[in-house]
Amino acid sequence: MMEQILPPLESLIGKYHIRLDHQRAPAMLEGKVAIIAGGASGIGESAVRLFWQNGAKAIVADIQDDLGQAICDQLDENAIYVHCDVSNEDEISNLVNAAVAKYGKLDIMYNNAGIIDGMPLHHIC
Ligand SMILES: NC(=O)c1ccc[n+]([C@@H]2O[C@H](COP(=O)([O-])OP(=O)(O)OC[C@H]3O[C@@H](n4cnc5c(N)ncnc54)[C@H](O)[C@@H]3O)[C@@H](O)[C@H]2O)c1
Repeated sequence: MMEQILPPLESLIGKYHIRLDHQRAPAMLEGKVAIIAGGASGIGESAVRLFWQNGAKAIVADIQDDLGQAICDQLDENAIYVHCDVSNEDEISNLVNAAVAKYGKLDIMYNNAGIIDGMPLHHIC
């Protein structure tokens, strides 16, 4: 069923120059500035690494400061961690300001922060 809806991944890689390996190189997100909220673990962490591998400057936003900072420490100056609780408007404003102050603009905001029944998913799974 999925094959009828989505094109094969290999065709997307060829078309958009998506990188799935662990090297950073010019690619489809080159020069883009992206916030990934909930980026310290799970799907968000994978998104951070994929955005970074494909040339984006990644701002990792989360409430798990140690995990978020550790991911950025593994990457380079094109990934920074900013504490942000997405349920707090002031912290979101601070996050956006931090992104613009560091990289001069903001192109992408991807919210992957989430919990189930009041508990982060990584505590359940
Ligand atoms: N994993 C699954 O099977 C699944 C299925 C359906 C939906 N989802 C949704 O996908 C999203 C991510 O899932 P995951 O498996 O990567 O979960 P995860 O718990 O590994 O990651 C969620 C991240 O969000 C962060 N977070 C939680 N509350 C936050 C807040 N208020 N502000 C900032 N960051 C916050 C957590 O610290 C964590 O790093 C969630 O919204 C979840 O509901 C996941």
